[in-house]
Amino acid sequence: MQAWQFDHYGHYSDALHWVERAAPIPGEGQALVRTRAMSLNFPDLLIIQGRYQHKAPLPAVPGVEGVGVVEAVGPGSKFKVGDRAVGFSHAGGTLADSFLVNNRSAWTVPNHVSDEQAAALSVTYGTSYFGLVHRAHLQAGETLLVLGAAGGVGLAAIQLGKAMGAIVIACAGDATKLAVCRSHGADHVINYREEDLVERVKAVTGGLGADVIYDPVGGDIFDQVKRCVAWDGRIVIIGFASGRIPAIECNRILLKNMAVIGLAWGQYLDRGSRLPEQAQFLLYDMLARRQIDPVIYRVLPFSEIKEGLRLIESREVYGKVVITR
Ligand SMILES: NC(=O)c1ccc[n+]([C@@H]2O[C@H](COP(=O)([O-])OP(=O)(O)OC[C@H]3O[C@@H](n4cnc5c(N)ncnc54)[C@H](OP(=O)(O)O)[C@@H]3O)[C@@H](O)[C@H]2O)c1
Repeated sequence: MQAWQFDHYGHYSDALHWVERAAPIPGEGQALVRTRAMSLNFPDLLIIQGRYQHKAPLPAVPGVEGVGVVEAVGPGSKFKVGDRAVGFSHAGGTLADSFLVNNRSAWTVPNHVSDEQAAALSVTYGTSYFGLVHRAHLQAGETLLVLGAAGGVGLAAIQLGKAMGAIVIACAGDATKLAVCRSHGADHVINYREEDLVERVKAVTGGLGADVIYDPVGGDIFDQVKRCVAWDGRIVIIGFASGRIPAIECNRILLKNMAVIGLAWGQYLDRGSRLPEQAQFLLYDMLARRQIDPVIYRVLPFSEIKEGLRLIESREVYGKVVITR
């Protein structure tokens, strides 16, 4: 089969090559899926540079999620040949003609969900669903502040927050991204480059602060928003797109009766939890009811993978970049 492969860690522009390599053979509880679509994620940039928490043995194929048709099954696989399946893997592998899925971290896709939607819905919506529902216990009527709001997990959090009845404040770095956030349900938008983020959140919340802060960015923005959490509020730590892991003073946590909550969505899959699959089917239902609508910034062919990664790296993108075969 053919695949995008890197045999040393580095920048994708130099490290990534289109090569011929042997198709993986499905083992116990695995299936081989013929790729139809996959979506790029911020961690793909880190994986190729060897800066992600999971390092695939070299030479490696990037791509952590993909959708396609099952072409071969290993012993004990829950799939059969011909099933349309979507799968997730920390180890990468979906930027190829075919990729492996396993019983724990893959499921079939209902007919009403297109390949592009399935590719765009799994990691980002799965993460935001878990972050808001299972970790933050967001309630209707609460105020939700979403950072990195025009990114993949951010736009998912806006849509899910609105579907859960929250008042959503979206924070992003330019007018185009903020307009996208508004068109996807944000009640208030803040340009953190031009406005005083803490003062705006306080103004919008009548001085109370946000009940839930959803943070995939960290760094300087976290340093600011830790000062505008409501009493009994929650900060959900999703990621560090800024490149800096921030810190918070324990007295602040105590005095505000607040919780700082971590989420590593993939670990639910690694630990064999059925919750991600159940959540995914709830998300497919929400899609059918038009409560959510994955934002696909660009659909590119496999040959333009480097352009897709460039769009993410340059922060030009909002929503998802989906790659199709
Ligand atoms: N915990 C989990 O289970 C989990 C799951 C999925 C993703 N994540 C993490 O969540 C983070 C966001 O993922 P995503 O898919 O939403 O990424 P994305 O689509 O690239 O969005 C990231 C957003 O972060 C903002 N940002 C601020 N500083 C940045 C910087 N230095 N470089 C790039 N972006 C920066 C950008 O918004 P502005 O341009 O508006 O500032 C951008 O829209 C990543 O760190 C990812 O690893 C975690």
